[in-house]
Amino acid sequence: MKVRVYLVVFLQFLGYSCGVLSFKISDVFPVCKKNDDQCLTAAIEKALHYLCENGLPELKLPKLDPIAIPEISIGTKGSAADISQKYIDVKLHGFKKASVSNAHLDWEKKKLTFTVFAPQLDQVSSYDFNGRILIFPIRGQGKAVLSQSNVTVYHTIQFDTVKKQDKDYFKVVSYVISTNPSKTSFKVDNLFNGNEALSERVHEVVNDNWKVLWDEAKADVDLTYAKVYETFAQKLFGKLPISDLVIQA
Ligand SMILES: *[C@@H]1O[C@H](CO)[C@@H](O)[C@H](O)[C@H]1NC(C)=O
Repeated sequence: MKVRVYLVVFLQFLGYSCGVLSFKISDVFPVCKKNDDQCLTAAIEKALHYLCENGLPELKLPKLDPIAIPEISIGTKGSAADISQKYIDVKLHGFKKASVSNAHLDWEKKKLTFTVFAPQLDQVSSYDFNGRILIFPIRGQGKAVLSQSNVTVYHTIQFDTVKKQDKDYFKVVSYVISTNPSKTSFKVDNLFNGNEALSERVHEVVNDNWKVLWDEAKADVDLTYAKVYETFAQKLFGKLPISDLVIQA
């Protein structure tokens, strides 16, 4: 039994180091002809759903639902909020139900754009807050859930192509996203060391004023998640030659 396990691990290692994948790439990413945006849109959606369910262990890529981030630090210094927000052991749930639209690969401008819509995203984590939100001084640690409804995320990837061993690969030059929820709500426990009445009041006011708070935090949130996607995309593109991704007809 043990020997068998070692053998499988060894074979996987061998397969991995030789660049032999144990899955058929066209099962994960339908390969599209150049300039077929409709096919590309469907391919990205299929890949997203596959990666949400499975990740790609062969390329050491984690699942995309939930997306796991060890820590997010946001230091908002705006008029609505002036607070250091630390989120620890973050899990973002919800992309398995997302749909993709408007994918376009512009070879001239070396730019890939697409739009992801998710009915609901929940960011679950531990939190550590210190500062002020609206009129409330806030200090506390505990569990936090930040939910976004009807979220549209615009992705813009600027790329280059590089040659490795006679094959062309995409290389991510920049990865920019813009996240646009139609509503956000936040639920944190232990906000004032268990003062429930005050905590409830703060939740009410914060959730009623979600838009102004979101507008101040958006840039940091977009940057944080874009970095995660950039790392993911770079690993993916670094291992899969363009000829495996696009039919150069
Ligand atoms: C999200 O969109 C659906 C469908 O348009 C709508 O019924 C729902 O009320 C929206 N939810 C929020 C929180 O805006």
